[in-house]
Amino acid sequence: MKIAIAKDMLAAEKRVAASPETVRKLESLGAEVFVVTGAGATASMTDDMYHAAGAQIVSEDEAYKDADIVLRVRHPSANELGKMKKGALMIGILSPYQEKDLVKAYAKQGVTAMAMELIPRITRAQTMDVLSSQANLAGYRAVLEASVEFGRSIPLMMTAAGTVPAAKVFVMGVGVAGLQAIATARRLGAQVSATDVRPAVGEQVQSLGATFVMVESEETKTAETSDGYAKEMSNGYKEKQTALVAETIKKQDIVITTALIPGKKAPVLITDDMVKSMKTGSVIIDMAVEQGGNCTLSKLGEVVNVNGIKIVGHLNMPSRIAVSSSVLYSRNLLSFLTPLIDKDTKELKINWEDEIVKASMLTRDGSVVHPNFI
Ligand code: NAI
Repeated sequence: MKIAIAKDMLAAEKRVAASPETVRKLESLGAEVFVVTGAGATASMTDDMYHAAGAQIVSEDEAYKDADIVLRVRHPSANELGKMKKGALMIGILSPYQEKDLVKAYAKQGVTAMAMELIPRITRAQTMDVLSSQANLAGYRAVLEASVEFGRSIPLMMTAAGTVPAAKVFVMGVGVAGLQAIATARRLGAQVSATDVRPAVGEQVQSLGATFVMVESEETKTAETSDGYAKEMSNGYKEKQTALVAETIKKQDIVITTALIPGKKAPVLITDDMVKSMKTGSVIIDMAVEQGGNCTLSKLGEVVNVNGIKIVGHLNMPSRIAVSSSVLYSRNLLSFLTPLIDKDTKELKINWEDEIVKASMLTRDGSVVHPNFI
């Protein structure tokens, strides 16, 4: 069983799909691991480290040739896909909703493509949950990015020359990334508040030492789906929320937005006027920028300055903390792959009826099989 570790070539992608630790574990499952030269260089994992872990370091052509399994971070280029053999299993964060044509191309190539982000959030799959592992680190990194852009200190500082007040940080959207952003901002000594449409997160916010503010209504009782995600709110709710945010935001130094609704454009939470009501020197980190943005003035991949207020729209926040995100992502992949390998024959033996396999599989035997992409 040959496993290829890709060198991801998308812009702003510094992560890698295997660490020396997971290479050793893949070998103990019976695999021969072939790492593309330089695959981990941007995540501080050198070819020598992979070699010491037992992998062979080869060109992309050699790695993909006859590979039974290709592990990658993001979706491949058409050129890379063309090098994979019929029947190969390719696993990654494949963004199928954004890359529908590629899904068809996987089928045409005869590749079995599995998208890690489609794995259901069930207890058995917790160790495979890339959305959580990557969002957690992204939430942490967002606060650090804000602290660099912010011209003042975050903690209260009492010095002989006078006192610098603690920064006020407001986190909008309290999922995995938001909770970590709150925890990080608290560790740095900020005065933190947060909001969400799901009242259930209020207690979690308070347990981290932050203040929870939200518009409560009959509607918020059903704002959470059975999967724990948010629904899109009514226009009436949005108006009330806009009024609350407008009042809250002008007092903030740093705002971190993480609000997402699965399968939809990110909700607009911060309007042009709200940005302009903020103090000069304030910072907004729009973590939803790749899904359309929570702030009307954020720009994809840019830091824009509006009247002295910086709005940060960095792409791919997990890639900005590439070593840790690669370590965790590699473990997510290992957890996903382990049950697909027969312990005795040391070959792939996939239970096609398994809930996790079915939810993540996009293509098989030359056809698109996932109902959302047929
Ligand atoms: P997400 O990335 O889809 O959304 C981020 C946050 O934005 C959510 O808290 C959502 O309620 C909030 N939001 C959406 N619209 C909003 C609006 N208009 N205003 C303010 N906030 C808004 O969420 P994520 O991080 O994927 O987490 C979703 C849920 O899944 C959480 O309840 C989390 O605890 C749960 N979860 C469950 C896991 C499991 O294994 N069972 C693993 C990880 C998360």
